[in-house]
Amino acid sequence: MWSAMQEAEIGWPQRGDDRNVNELERYGAELTGLEACLFVFTASIANLLALMVATSRGDQVILDADSHQVWIEGWNLAYICGVYPRLIKSERGLMPLDEVRAALDGWRGPAHPRTSLIALESPHNDHGGTIVPVDHIEALTELAHAYGCHVHMDGARIHNAAVATGVPVRQFTESLDTVTISLNKGLGAPVGALLCGSAAHIAMARERGLRWLGASGMHRGGLFAAAGLYALEHMVDRLADDHLRARKIADGIRDLPGINVNHPETNQVKVSTEPSGRLAEDFVSALAVKAVLVTLREPYVFKMMAHHEIDDEAVELAVKEARTVVCELGSSQ
Ligand SMILES: Cc1ncc(COP(=O)(O)O)c(C=O)c1O
Repeated sequence: MWSAMQEAEIGWPQRGDDRNVNELERYGAELTGLEACLFVFTASIANLLALMVATSRGDQVILDADSHQVWIEGWNLAYICGVYPRLIKSERGLMPLDEVRAALDGWRGPAHPRTSLIALESPHNDHGGTIVPVDHIEALTELAHAYGCHVHMDGARIHNAAVATGVPVRQFTESLDTVTISLNKGLGAPVGALLCGSAAHIAMARERGLRWLGASGMHRGGLFAAAGLYALEHMVDRLADDHLRARKIADGIRDLPGINVNHPETNQVKVSTEPSGRLAEDFVSALAVKAVLVTLREPYVFKMMAHHEIDDEAVELAVKEARTVVCELGSSQ
């Protein structure tokens, strides 16, 4: 990837003459079965642009209550887009369709807010990398479109879903209006994300949205596009190793007292420390001392992620140290 970046021929992306940026955007559109694609620096920017191009101030937007877009992106949807978030709790990333329909229905007549966008997330970060199946995505888009409403998916890790299920990315995405795909995370590019959607949406995001965000001047963007292309061409198939390693970590600690561990669908091990009565931060700090870096997610939840920098040796170490820490802390109350 580093060599691809060093060898990248540099053009001017804003003028449309950077070969790697153009190639990456062509690749993104083809991959998702959508008309067009825009290369941006982060998945958060792509998610925000999707909102900016499909909504107007005062609109209602229906979002998964535990989504990255709501909780980790700093409520930028309220600050920047001025939309009203209607949050719906999902089961493993699937928002109940009857609740979505109820939120769309205008039972207050003209006083009911206009709903312009529904946003889902898959794989779902907070639920531990769970995958929303294609039939649910299609049912949701069919419902939304009947109400003249767009559907955006934060598919930052959609390649994990494709590799885990054997279903091509395109099947997950082609019924959507817009989708975000990250090039870093498991794919390992230094930065970069794709926003894919209709030609009109992507033109609006490119020509207006990026400027409004002060993010249109992607000078030397070709360096990062070269990394992104390398990631898409060389780093996707190996995601299966991450999934296997996540399952090994989960299975290696599942029997311990004081914790509940998920059955990873992709690369994320989600550990609840609630049965022990101890806060997850106690486990996170004790593991850090043993060089096992895990993420605190909720007061009683931490996560362990398998990715391209975690090999079999690291998995063994993680399991060994996690067993020690959980045995020490998990049963001590
Ligand atoms: C589901 C999801 N969406 C979006 C993002 C944001 O990615 P970025 O750091 O590129 O803005 C993340 C980051 O972890 C994520 O997990």
